[in-house]
This record gives sequence, structure tokens and C-alpha cells, in this order.
Amino acid sequence: MSSKETRITKAVFPVAGMGTRFLPATKANPKEMLPVVDKPLIQYAAEEAIAAGVDELIFVTSSSKRAIEDHFDKNYEMEAELAAKGKIDLLNLVRDVVPKGVSCVYVRQAEALGLGHAVLCAKSIVGNEPFAVILADDLIDGGNASCMQQMVAAFNEKQCSILGVEKIPIEYSHKYGMISSEEIGDRLSRIKSIIEKPDPADAPSDLAVVGRYILTPRIFGLLETTPRGAGGEIQLTDAIDALLKEEEVLAYQFKGKRYDCGSKLGYLKASIDYALQHPELADDFTEYLKKRFGQNGGRIEDSIKRA
Ligand code: G1P
Repeated sequence: MSSKETRITKAVFPVAGMGTRFLPATKANPKEMLPVVDKPLIQYAAEEAIAAGVDELIFVTSSSKRAIEDHFDKNYEMEAELAAKGKIDLLNLVRDVVPKGVSCVYVRQAEALGLGHAVLCAKSIVGNEPFAVILADDLIDGGNASCMQQMVAAFNEKQCSILGVEKIPIEYSHKYGMISSEEIGDRLSRIKSIIEKPDPADAPSDLAVVGRYILTPRIFGLLETTPRGAGGEIQLTDAIDALLKEEEVLAYQFKGKRYDCGSKLGYLKASIDYALQHPELADDFTEYLKKRFGQNGGRIEDSIKRA
């Protein structure tokens, strides 16, 4: 990289949403604290950012999200107790939630005015540099390189805003920001248009924006003048639409598997797949699933009836 090029060191995590799709579990607990096996969703998101080189985690929170601050804070009592009992592995697990050199900043989103407004709340902390945005309920297993790591690699080369995208069945277009674009390289395309949650008939293609963004700071000025859009909220998608009229905005089709952990089905799928990869659980859990669903390609429907 030349001296003129910038690095991504800050990531914004909008975590102020209510999580109504998981009630009553999310009545007193933030949806971002729901665990997939043994780690809360927000920790997977933080680890993804840190793996991509981020060292400042900016959480846009609300009054009901204190558990997130506690999770990333030091827990003296627990650490002292684990140390006294010689439980060093657990002690390291607790300490490593925030690795050395990484800092956390919290800012409140006082009103639920949407994702665009949430990102705008981080303006003074991000300042005048490009930054990442990660939505924790899109959990992405990128394999060897996390989704944000892949996107940062593309950013280092292109030095412009980049959105994580994937192909979806068009009937789900009403759940996503949808783009049209022209291919410019391996997994990369230049975005021509973007629209928030269109009906399938109005979707410009089957490429949906997932919860991963790298944005230039110009987005803040545009968010300030973005009127309320879909759902009466200030939509990040609308500000990106204005951005791409001024600057190049790219789409990156990430390698990996995304789980929509904002939905119960996606959350269950993630829990199963992550358990099957978990070093402590993989063998026993595989054994359980074999017994539960039949060893030799037995029909799942039959084993469900048997249970
Ligand atoms: C948000 C964005 C949408 C994006 C989606 C990805 O929607 O507004 O453009 O495609 O995240 O998960 P939400 O899921 O918060 O309704």
C-alpha cells in the first residue's frame, strides 16, 4: 500500500434494534447476545472485524443493551475466581473476549430511526476515514478468511466503498437492500443502483446486500440529508444510493456461508452447523444426529415420526 492509501481500523456495530422476532428471549436480553453454541452473535461479529485488522469497535447501542457493554468489559470478580481456582483456559477465554490493543467505544442511538441513523450516530467517533459496518445477526462463516477480511483485502486494492452481497432467491428481495451491478473482476462488481427491500418484480437483480459494508466517510454527510425512507426509517441503502452517484461503490460476493440469525430458522441452522464444527462437541453431536435421524441415509421424516 502507498502512503496515500488508508487502512480500515474502525468497525461500527449497530446493536440498538429491539429483536422482536426472538421475543420473549429478547425481552431483557439483547438479540446480539444470543449464543451460537457458546459465543454470543456480537462476539462473532467483533472477532470477524478484529481478524480483518480493526482495532476500534464502535457499538451503537440503546438503553436495553447494557449486557453488550458488560460482555466486552473486564469482569474482575470472575477473573479473580477463575485465577484462584487455577482454571487458566477459562480465564484466557474470558480475557480474550477483547484482545490486547483493541478498544471498545459505545454511543447511544436514542431513537429507533433505522440503520442509516444508527451509522450516523458513529460519525464523530469514526471521523474522516473509511470504516466497516457489521450487522451481527448476519453470521458469516468465511472459512479461512472471514467475510470482512476478504472485503478489506478488496478495499486495500480499490480504496472505495464496498458492500458484501450474495445471490438470493428473488422472492426474498423484500427483506434486503437489492443492487444491480456490472462485473469488474473476480467476485467484484460496480454497483449501478440500489434499492431497499423492493418487491420481487421491482428488484434490479438477485444480488442482495448482506450485513457487511465498508464505507467512505462521505456517507455521513449524505446520511445527514437522507429523508426517512422504507418503514419511516433513515435507510443506509438510500444514502448509499446517493453515494454511488458521487463515488464508485463496489459489490463483493463473499466466499462463505451466511446465516440469517435474525430469524429463528437461520439461527437454528447456524447452531447446528457451528456445533458440528466445535472441537468439544463435534463428535458427540454428530453421534446424536446419526442416532436421531438414522445412520444409513434413513429418511428424516421417518426418524421424526419414530422420536
Ligand atoms: C438491513 C438493511 C438491508 C440489508 C440487511 C442485511 O435490513 O437495511 O439493506 O440487506 O440489513 O441483513 P434489516 O435486516 O435490518 O431489516
